[in-house]
Amino acid sequence: MGKTMKKTLGILGAVMALGLVLAGCGSKSTDNSVKKIQDNKTLVVGTSADYAPFEFPIMQNGKKKIVGYDMMIAQKIADDLGVKLKIENTEFPSLISELKNNKIDLIMAGMVSTNQRKKVVAFSKSYYTVQNVLLVQKKDADKFNNVADVKGKQIGAQQTTTQESIAKSQLKGSNVVTEGVLTSLTTELSQGKLSGVVVENEIANNYIKQYPDKYAIAKVKLTTPKDQRSVNIAVRKSDKALLKRVNKQITKLEKNGQLDKMFNEAQDLQVKSGK
Ligand code: ARG
Repeated sequence: MGKTMKKTLGILGAVMALGLVLAGCGSKSTDNSVKKIQDNKTLVVGTSADYAPFEFPIMQNGKKKIVGYDMMIAQKIADDLGVKLKIENTEFPSLISELKNNKIDLIMAGMVSTNQRKKVVAFSKSYYTVQNVLLVQKKDADKFNNVADVKGKQIGAQQTTTQESIAKSQLKGSNVVTEGVLTSLTTELSQGKLSGVVVENEIANNYIKQYPDKYAIAKVKLTTPKDQRSVNIAVRKSDKALLKRVNKQITKLEKNGQLDKMFNEAQDLQVKSGK
């Protein structure tokens, strides 16, 4: 072997060795979030089941089961990971701390990716878009046409949600009443204890579909800030591998039309279950 040939092989070897080292670094820097879930054979999804058609309870063979659009997507993600799905139902205000404290792997609760939340958790691709409205009693459908009409009225909004901040900043002069569970507020609305509840359009539509004689959407216009419109899945910031896997699944479900199909199925299920 000639001298130059030897030299070339030497350099080639060095380049290959460097390549191996770099590849090694690459695989080390990917986290073990997916592996951990697969080792546990369970994906734990946190939700707040007061939010049909996204998540709501039904009775099945005498047992309470949490179903809905988010839960259908959660099942697809669990299937893709080859693990069982476990739903942790809790009040919406505790979900982010549950995620940060490793009690759950994902939040799927119709949660929008606000700039403030983005500081603490990572969000997946969006799988739904929302707007806010004021849900009122049917008999008051023509009573609340602008902000002045809600002055001095009791207006409900779920604690720590974007509805709370929208109610407080846009329905000035009203008394904003907050609770951890949304269904408590809508019950109070139907009893006349509240004059209105700020909710997202699909939630309002479902109440109206379910109880056409009870509820209506008021004419007063609410503005939904840009960062409060996209519904996403929340993941711990460190769980990069899991986030990648979740995004891949959302893209797939979007492309094959399953997302739309599942949303409609969830709505039908809610109407049938009478919840
Ligand atoms: N989209 C709103 C937010 O992210 C409300 C979500 C409430 N979700 C629920 N399951 N109750 O703040």
